[in-house]
Amino acid sequence: MKQLNAKILSNEKVGTAFYKMRLASSYLAKLAKPGQFVEIRCSKGTAPLLRRPLGVHRVSSLGIEVLYEVVGKGTEIISNKRAGEDLDIIGPLGNGFDLELGSDVNILVAGGIGVAPLMALAEGLSVKKSRKIHVLIGARVKSHVMCEGEFKALGCAVKVTTDDGSRGYKGLVTELLKKLLATHKVKTYLPDFRGITVYACGPNAMLKSVAAIAMEHGIPCQASFEERMACGVGVCLGCPVKVKSPEGYKMVCKDGPVFDAGEILW
Ligand SMILES: Cc1cc2nc3c(=O)[nH]c(=O)nc-3n(C[C@H](O)[C@H](O)[C@H](O)COP(=O)(O)OP(=O)(O)OC[C@H]3O[C@@H](n4cnc5c(N)ncnc54)[C@H](O)[C@@H]3O)c2cc1C
Ligand code: FES
Repeated sequence: MKQLNAKILSNEKVGTAFYKMRLASSYLAKLAKPGQFVEIRCSKGTAPLLRRPLGVHRVSSLGIEVLYEVVGKGTEIISNKRAGEDLDIIGPLGNGFDLELGSDVNILVAGGIGVAPLMALAEGLSVKKSRKIHVLIGARVKSHVMCEGEFKALGCAVKVTTDDGSRGYKGLVTELLKKLLATHKVKTYLPDFRGITVYACGPNAMLKSVAAIAMEHGIPCQASFEERMACGVGVCLGCPVKVKSPEGYKMVCKDGPVFDAGEILW
């Protein structure tokens, strides 16, 4: 991990309030892993003071791509940056997804902008061609469904759900997960769920529910947290998550953002 100036190659609007930014950095191209993130300095001044964390959406030979939603001042400033400008970032940070845990069948569950890091994960998992990758995308409304086409182009089986039913199923993405697991059991006639891994990224309530479903079925599950952060490197103790081990807490930025679901005290 280091602080660097990455050249912005493009920063395009890809949805109502969604943007994709491509950053040139041979350092990040070499080192960034699915599930890791970068801390971006939004402006040269002091407002906003804190850097903003964004997940690695894609890794290429040129650098990385981030996919982000404009929700406040920091992301709005980032969305106004232009190709050719330098961006002050620290990264790659945190511990990413464990690709070794990848099974014959992998189920990626995304809630909202939690879809962003799952693209890099799907690309990483799909290197092994025999792997089946299901992607379940949950969004509030149709216009917030991101990356459906890209996942399909990668060969993933994609299902979408929206809160209002404006696209795909109506309801929670966790209901899709339950349905998929039930279908899998019928199709394979397997008495258990060996050979499946679940990966999830999204709001805490969704992660808790996905973890409960996975653990109930005895399926390994990795969950990526999007906790609010300050320093991003484990110094300020501002991003704790409760764990079952004796230390009681771990820091999302340093020990995560990806954790084994069984490790967390939900
Ligand atoms: C490890 C990690 C990876 C992330 N990856 C991505 C990503 O790939 N794409 C993306 O769009 N976002 C991602 N986020 C969330 C992103 O960092 C925040 O949306 C961003 O920092 C908000 O900054 P802002 O100044 O625009 O909004 P602020 O003005 O700080 O906040 C605006 C509103 O958003 C809420 N908010 C801010 N941060 C968060 C958060 N972390 N979780 C939930 N609500 C929040 C605030 O409560 C407030 O209501 C990630 C967060 C973490 C910790
Ligand atoms: S943000 Fe400072 S310890 Fe995690």
